[in-house]
Order: sequence, then structure tokens, then C-alpha cells
Amino acid sequence: MTASTSPDTPARTALARTREELASALAGDDAPRAVVMTMGALHQGHFDLVREAARHVGADGTVVVTIFVNPLQFAPGEDLDAYPRTLEADLDGLAAVLTGADGALAVGRLVVFAPTPEVMYPYGDPQVRIDPGPLATVLEGRIRPTHFAGVCQVVLSLMHLTAPRWAMFGRKDAQQLAVVKAMVRDLAVPVEIVPVDIRRETDGLAMSSRNAYLSDAERGHALALSRALEAGRAAARTGADAAAVRAAAQQVLDAEAGVEVDYVAVVDPDSFVDLAGAGLGLETRNQPVDSAQVGSAADGARSSQGLLAVAARVGSTRLIDNTLIDLP
Ligand code: PAF
Repeated sequence: MTASTSPDTPARTALARTREELASALAGDDAPRAVVMTMGALHQGHFDLVREAARHVGADGTVVVTIFVNPLQFAPGEDLDAYPRTLEADLDGLAAVLTGADGALAVGRLVVFAPTPEVMYPYGDPQVRIDPGPLATVLEGRIRPTHFAGVCQVVLSLMHLTAPRWAMFGRKDAQQLAVVKAMVRDLAVPVEIVPVDIRRETDGLAMSSRNAYLSDAERGHALALSRALEAGRAAARTGADAAAVRAAAQQVLDAEAGVEVDYVAVVDPDSFVDLAGAGLGLETRNQPVDSAQVGSAADGARSSQGLLAVAARVGSTRLIDNTLIDLP
């Protein structure tokens, strides 16, 4: 994959390492465009996002994949330095995913943007910051208070640099999805957010680049997360309310030695209003955060869906997982 040189004859695949190379690769390209933002170490979960992007743009469209381990979303002491960086394998994987049975690229163009921190933040630490608001202060935000501001900073910048019609985001990071949807809505960013379902290993473990940190024994303990979600889903199927769904999931996690639970919550998937009376610093239905205001503006109606979300430490690895459930 090489950097595109001429906007008149754009390469069908291009690797851009600088803003100038990206601008040159996208110049004059008015085909439908979707972006998939990643931190690399790509797995099938990412490739599902890429496939969904390809479906959206069609055979002549452009898929842009960004690969950037964003320092702003890591707090001191988190795994910024250890985070896997596998650019060559990522490029091979992307080419394979977007190659059709005939051996040709299945979309019009694939542009990969893989900047360094200096390219992404050429003036050093950004002066103008995004405040992602109350959604970013609960659950993940409570444990990682600067995380979503860092995510918003890079996501908005990458939206400006890549100018997509669609941006794909995985449901695995459900709170990130909610924060990004709220940012796009509140800042009138002309990009449509497309959620993509969680990809799981055959034993149920949600795919994550951080799974690579788990030892064999830890990987066994980690399966308690998906089992807890299944217990919650099973309870929901019998008509259990949010509190009972949460209790069913909590019970599975509590029974697993080697799993240190950070939280188990049932929340509104858009507003993260607490539906299960769990405390955890969440707003409850009687408090000011209103789902119709904070959540999807599409219909404004309160959803009967809940999001059962869990986070736990297995050894030194922090894992999150979630599932949507129907509530009475
Ligand atoms: O989900 C991720 O991998 C990251 O948070 C994102 C959206 C690429 C921003 O760095």
C-alpha cells in the first residue's frame, strides 16, 4: 500500500502517514465515503466494521480506515506503551477483508490513515478541548475520568480530516458509542454514526485487542463476563425487571474467582440513565438527565431496551462487555 501521488489518478489503495498524504489521497474523491476509526491490532470485530463500511459505500465507494493509538484517551499508568502496534499485519488484514472472490478490491478505494501523535497533534497538547458532558462521568468515565474527552478529541479531528458520510462504531464500546452519538448530535457534525454488533470468539469472549494480554488461565476466568450477560439475558426472557437482570449477571461474576468486578449496570443505551437502581453514580429515572433529551434524537421515545454492561479486571487486564436486553 503506497501513498497516493496524483489526485487525477488516485490509487485504489493508499496508505497515508501525514495529513498532506491523506488530503492528497482523498482530493477529488466524491464517491460515498465511510470511515472506520481504530487503534490498530485489528481483529474480526474491526473487520466487521470494515465490512459494514463497504456495504454502506457500495462497489464504487471509498472506505477510510484510521489506525492511531490516541495518547489523549489513556491516563498515566494505563497501557498506552504496551498497546499492541501491528501496522503491517493490519494492512494485510484490511486488504484481505476488502478483496472479493475475483481477487479485486470489493470497494472503489481503501485509504488507510496511520498518523503519529505528532501528525495528529502537530501543536502539542490541544488547547481547545471537548467536554463530553455527564455521559462521560459514569461507569467507564468514573474509572477513566479523562478517557471520553480524549476519544471525542480524536474522533472529531478524524471526522474533519476524513470527511465521511458514515462512521462505524462497535457496540462493544457501548458508552463510547453513546458519547460519540451525543457529540455528533450536539455539535451538528454531518456524519451518520452506524453501530455494529459485537463479534465474539466461539466460546463467547467478546473480541478485543486487549484479550492478547490474557494468560490461558485468565482467559478462562474472562469467560465469566459473557456468561454473566447470558444470565442477564435469560432473566430478561422470563420477564425480569432491570434490577433482577442486573442481580442475575452480578451473581455469575461474583462466583468466579479471578474476576474483580468494577461494575454491573443496566442503563438506557443512549442516556446511560440507571434502570436498575444500582447507584454507581448514575442518574436515575427521577433525576434530571432525560433519555429523550440525551438519547437518540431520531424518535425521542423512551426505549424499552436496556443495556446490561459489565466491567471487570482479570489479572491486570480490564475487560468490558455488554448486551442489549428487552425490559418489561
Ligand atoms: O474504539 C477505539 O478503538 C478508539 O476509542 C477510537 C474510536 C479509535 C478513538 O481512538
